[in-house]
Amino acid sequence: MILGILGSAAKDSVTREILLRAGERVARAKTRLHLVDLAVEFPEPHRLAEYDDPPPGSQTARLRALAARCDAAVLATPVYHGSYSALLKNALDHLTGDALTGRPVGLIAAGGGPRGAGTACDQLRTVVRALGGWAAPTHVATTAADLVPGPPLDFLDARLDALAAELLSFPRPSRRPPP
Ligand SMILES: Cc1cc2nc3c(=O)[nH]c(=O)nc-3n(C[C@H](O)[C@H](O)[C@H](O)COP(=O)(O)O)c2cc1C
Repeated sequence: MILGILGSAAKDSVTREILLRAGERVARAKTRLHLVDLAVEFPEPHRLAEYDDPPPGSQTARLRALAARCDAAVLATPVYHGSYSALLKNALDHLTGDALTGRPVGLIAAGGGPRGAGTACDQLRTVVRALGGWAAPTHVATTAADLVPGPPLDFLDARLDALAAELLSFPRPSRRPPP
């Protein structure tokens, strides 16, 4: 299972649209993208007091369980003032430092303008590293304009193809040889 974490609360979110397109690609390889809509499923602020021992069923426990089950993850964020969203950061702060160990992580950012999305992806790379994950080399830095049919959408899809291929090329934990 690939865990897709959506960091936008917007109605008709562009970021969601791009993440769903990534999901279509992994589905073709018979892998499921489990989309977590943070604004709906994990809206509570991080509770530091629960960090070491999250109560069963709590938001922290549920998010950690999903991270532990995934073979890979995709972090998808809108660009807010040159960075990734607080909604996504709040979710990632619920995780422990080994939450993504040994797993590849894809990065998607959607901005309103031509700048910012690449920066948000690069900033997320440092967070992925802190969580023990392997950020895929290809990130998808995009804008709503890329969803226009024709060359923009073709190029976006080509980047999503490359990202999906990188995620799927990584050996799954269950298929790795024992240490
Ligand atoms: C508070 C706020 C700050 C934003 N800052 C930027 C920015 O710095 N650079 C940019 O390109 N777009 C910026 N935008 C535009 C959004 O990134 C853009 O509308 C994006 O498509 C939103 O994705 P979503 O529809 O998935 O929420 C900002 C939007 C908001 C609401």
